[in-house]
Amino acid sequence: MSVAYDRGELDSYAEDAVRRIADAPDLAAVDRVGTEVLGKRSLLALAHRSLGTLDPEDRKSAGKHLNDIRAQLEAALESRRAVLGEADQRRRLVAERLDLTEVLPGRRRGHLHLVSRTQAELEDTFVGMGFEVAEGPEAESDWYNFEALNIPPDHPARGMWDTFYLELGDPGAVLLRTHTSPVQVRLLESRQLPIYAVMPGKCYRRDTADARHLPVFHQIEGLVVDRGTSFADLAGTIETFTNAYFGSAIHARLRPAYFPFTEPSAEFEITCTICRGSGCHTCSGSGWIELGGCGMVDPAVFDALHIDPEEWTGFAFGFGIDRLVQMRYGLADLRVLTENDIRFLTQV
Ligand code: DAH
Repeated sequence: MSVAYDRGELDSYAEDAVRRIADAPDLAAVDRVGTEVLGKRSLLALAHRSLGTLDPEDRKSAGKHLNDIRAQLEAALESRRAVLGEADQRRRLVAERLDLTEVLPGRRRGHLHLVSRTQAELEDTFVGMGFEVAEGPEAESDWYNFEALNIPPDHPARGMWDTFYLELGDPGAVLLRTHTSPVQVRLLESRQLPIYAVMPGKCYRRDTADARHLPVFHQIEGLVVDRGTSFADLAGTIETFTNAYFGSAIHARLRPAYFPFTEPSAEFEITCTICRGSGCHTCSGSGWIELGGCGMVDPAVFDALHIDPEEWTGFAFGFGIDRLVQMRYGLADLRVLTENDIRFLTQV
């Protein structure tokens, strides 16, 4: 089929096509109209094919006319696509909208884990007692985790901490901290004395999880260094903290112990809150649960950091936060804290 070139007809064809493009309700319709008005069987294409029958002068101006129409229609298609694309995207955004609002009145989604909440409460308790809160890294060097704490390589006390080593630097040089005590060293190194600080955070040990142990657990460390601090200050601080946190029904006791970085050292135990002291599976029948250790900062630690032990004395302590949670909430087994059982998580 051949169509004679008719300028007037083509102009009204273009006008009509522009209107149809503008009216296309969606992107698929735009494509359809596009094929109809520009495709091989469109009036435009047919007119193009008939150009050969015109004499050269007319052919030139007719050709330019057809090209102008083509350009006009292509521009109309493109702008309609842009408009519809934007509307489409807006519609999709509304349809796929996620409500990330954590807390709305009557619509609470999620809450802090019991351990995080407890850590915050402990920080508050200690801040109320005049301590500041500090933090240190979880990947530590051997020096901070052990050596500066008076635990040289091959010291038998290293057996107290089953350590995860990282494949980083020299073998054995970098590890996951086994306690928060290295943060004491970092503070002593970087702060002016006196220091009154607590240092909460995650710790790691190669322990098999059981009722009282987790391989990833939390501690809160305390350090006080001032002129004239004594063991009585340490005992008083622990007593104050225990009462502030557990109330007066739960007792604390200090038992002689050994830690290389304190002298004298003690273990800090509280009445087992599961059996109230009569002995149960959780406390291995003893009626007491060990929460952590404490003691007077060993002069060897001060020496390593060039602090004069004649002028400064201090005490330190370190507790397991997970153990505290276990005792406070009467959890027979610590592992419920990590199992993500929704029945447990929503209950607390
Ligand atoms: N870092 C020790 C541990 O995890 C606990 C400890 C004992 C911390 C005595 C102290 C301390 O600050 O003085 O086994």
